[in-house]
Amino acid sequence: MQFKNISIKKIMIIGIVGSGAMGNGIAQVAATSGHKVVVYDNNAAALEKAKASTLQTLNKLQEKGKLADAKAVFSLYHYTDELSGLADCGLVIEAIIENLDIKKQVFAALESIVSDTCILASNTSSLSIASIAASVKQAERVIGIHFFNPAPLMALVEIIPAIQTREGLAEEIKALMLQWKKAPVLTKDTPGFIVNRVARPFYGEAIKIMEEGLATKEDIDVALTILGGFKMGPFTLTDYIGHDVNYVVTETVFQSFFYDPRYRPSFSQKRLLEAGWLGRKSGRGFYNYENEGPVLKSNLDAAQQKEIVERILFMLINEAVEALYLNIASAADLDLAMTKGVNYPKGLLAWCDELGADYVLAGLDALYHKYHDDRYRASAMLRKYGTEKKKFFN
Ligand SMILES: NC(=O)c1ccc[n+]([C@@H]2O[C@H](COP(=O)([O-])OP(=O)(O)OC[C@H]3O[C@@H](n4cnc5c(N)ncnc54)[C@H](O)[C@@H]3O)[C@@H](O)[C@H]2O)c1
Repeated sequence: MQFKNISIKKIMIIGIVGSGAMGNGIAQVAATSGHKVVVYDNNAAALEKAKASTLQTLNKLQEKGKLADAKAVFSLYHYTDELSGLADCGLVIEAIIENLDIKKQVFAALESIVSDTCILASNTSSLSIASIAASVKQAERVIGIHFFNPAPLMALVEIIPAIQTREGLAEEIKALMLQWKKAPVLTKDTPGFIVNRVARPFYGEAIKIMEEGLATKEDIDVALTILGGFKMGPFTLTDYIGHDVNYVVTETVFQSFFYDPRYRPSFSQKRLLEAGWLGRKSGRGFYNYENEGPVLKSNLDAAQQKEIVERILFMLINEAVEALYLNIASAADLDLAMTKGVNYPKGLLAWCDELGADYVLAGLDALYHKYHDDRYRASAMLRKYGTEKKKFFN
């Protein structure tokens, strides 16, 4: 049967598959935007936990004056441990375990339950939307809608049409995300989408500087926060994210990009993972959190700090420029993604304009000549903008 083009306004009921951290957060966003929400999970205990935590969160929001009527919002929720409970949904967003085979099974089963017009979305962080879409008959109704954690607080949403996705669906989802007061960006179905791709050097280059013995992790964290203006340094941040999550994303991106050295993972982080030093949540990661937690001190002078910040920043800018060059996203969306998705102090392309593309290019070329490693190759677009002293924004 042909997919019928429907207006997003008619989507009344939002289905959520998976009531974990993400599914629960996305359900809250939809319900507080006035939608009826059906939350499905195959684990009854997870559903009960999600229910209790949602009620508590909504009540807290009401106490703080951020929500008029918690009870009214909670009445929009329906919880079910049967997939058939999603039959009347207009849009279903899947947020289950990050496993392609399991996601494919769930999408195939979903398609046999929902109407022909129901849109099927995945919140996957690292799997290709094309591969998920291939599991259903009407692949044109499948799209990626990637929220950030915690979904109610993080404005960014990456919208990822697969090559099979029907024309116009991404724009309809974008309109819906704006109704949900989110900051949507459109991105191609390539590994890491925008944020998880462009941000890789923030972690990888910082670890490499430490491994080379050029600076300590404390030096690097202090330089990036004090001089760079980032909210957290790379070692504090990866400890916060958890090395099980951050290392696996790096490794997946590296493999998905056919082993491009720009995304090469590090042994330092791999060993943390192997040792079970996952970061804050396990009491130890790069730093030890068992007692007071780390006090970050650095004896580096301003020039040394600048060298560290610039090396990492040049790599980040190069990633953003390369993503623009390859039409992964627009310049405006690339900058919005990094400021709203990972709270960077500035968009990377705007930062490049400020520093001068010629300056960034010279810095990268110096690294390339020092290491003779393809990791430091400048994007063809950065070379053009640097040579012609062009800007990304007027
Ligand atoms: N946690 C993050 O920071 C984050 C951010 C963006 C995207 N994501 C993506 O969102 C998805 C979910 O992540 P999460 O952190 O919420 O996971 P989670 O482990 O907190 O929750 C997953 C939930 O899915 C349920 N589930 C597992 N298999 C199921 C199945 N076959 N049918 C129904 N329910 C099933 C589990 O019972 C669990 O409640 C993943 O694809 C992940 O990559 C995670």
